[in-house]
Amino acid sequence: MTFSALRVYESESGFLQKIEQIPMTDLPDHDVLIKVEFSSLNYKDALSATGNKGITRSFPHTPGIDAAGTVVESRDKNFTNGQKVLVTGYDLGMNTHGGFGEYIRVPGNWIVTIPANVTSEFVMKLGTAGFTAALSLHRLEHNGISPEKGKILVTGATGGVGSLAVALLKKTGYTVVAATRKQNAHKFLYELGADEIISTEEIVSFSDRPLNKALWQGAIDTVGGSVLTGAICSCSMFGAVAACGLTQSAFFKSSVYPFILRGNALLGINSAETPMGLRKTIWQKLSAEWAPALPQTFSQSCGLEETIHKIHDILEGKIVGRILVNPLL
Ligand SMILES: NC(=O)c1ccc[n+]([C@@H]2O[C@H](COP(=O)([O-])OP(=O)(O)OC[C@H]3O[C@@H](n4cnc5c(N)ncnc54)[C@H](OP(=O)(O)O)[C@@H]3O)[C@@H](O)[C@H]2O)c1
Repeated sequence: MTFSALRVYESESGFLQKIEQIPMTDLPDHDVLIKVEFSSLNYKDALSATGNKGITRSFPHTPGIDAAGTVVESRDKNFTNGQKVLVTGYDLGMNTHGGFGEYIRVPGNWIVTIPANVTSEFVMKLGTAGFTAALSLHRLEHNGISPEKGKILVTGATGGVGSLAVALLKKTGYTVVAATRKQNAHKFLYELGADEIISTEEIVSFSDRPLNKALWQGAIDTVGGSVLTGAICSCSMFGAVAACGLTQSAFFKSSVYPFILRGNALLGINSAETPMGLRKTIWQKLSAEWAPALPQTFSQSCGLEETIHKIHDILEGKIVGRILVNPLL
């Protein structure tokens, strides 16, 4: 038996993506076989699909760090056929066959049962991006951030993590400052829940100062580089910044002043390796009191063929919102 998947091949002229039929026997020998209903496109998938060896070491490979669907076979007694489940992170789509195909086979300890009140489509509109935004909020709140203490900045606000952070912060009662480079996406951000919009360039302009005036109590940063520097040096007393991304740069400069004069905290976010207990707590919240209100225009559904084009768009920072990948389209 074979199934459709988006495969990445390494060739002398670079990395090629194509849709092909692959045998079920090519899946790894893990305990649970899942029929994928939806996946989603994340920045990391695009890096994997274009040959970033820090993410995927060997090719051919099927990317897709997210998947949601139905259990169709299980050697793990915790799962039964017909159960609706999701997988995000761990090694899925990195060096393990990922969600850009009709089936995945994974260890039982990577799997979260989809909460009863939500669908596989809903959880994949969020995917790793929404989970990361929620994990960032969870860590900020554990570090003293709360709605009455002031504004929260979100950088890279039209991207997957950024847009879901805007919607989630709005849902949880925060005043949200959205930073973007896209002049034409302001309406999208206001609809999602932004209270104010600031240009990314303006934040970069703060980055040559050891300390800027206090503009927000904290931030969710998806961009890194000089944007992260500007976000940190503009935090109020005892503020905190959750650093999750590197779309501008993996490197940033900072003085120690935000930390020793304002008591600020820099919090690292690692969604892929989040322990299962916290993972389940976050997904429960995302399906209930943290479930963000998402406008119709928030996500686009794409089949595997169209996903190939979107891979290149996301690397160029062109996507607004989320791409929902449906392997059956
Ligand atoms: N730590 C974790 O666990 C974790 C989990 C998920 C994602 N991530 C990381 O978080 C980042 C965002 O992921 P994503 O899936 O949300 O990606 P995405 O959808 O491509 O969003 C990234 C956004 O960053 C902004 N951007 C892109 N290039 C930029 C540049 N050169 N300078 C300034 N801003 C730029 C763009 O927003 P605007 O056009 O609105 O400015 C873009 O939409 C990635 O680095 C990803 O690897 C980390």
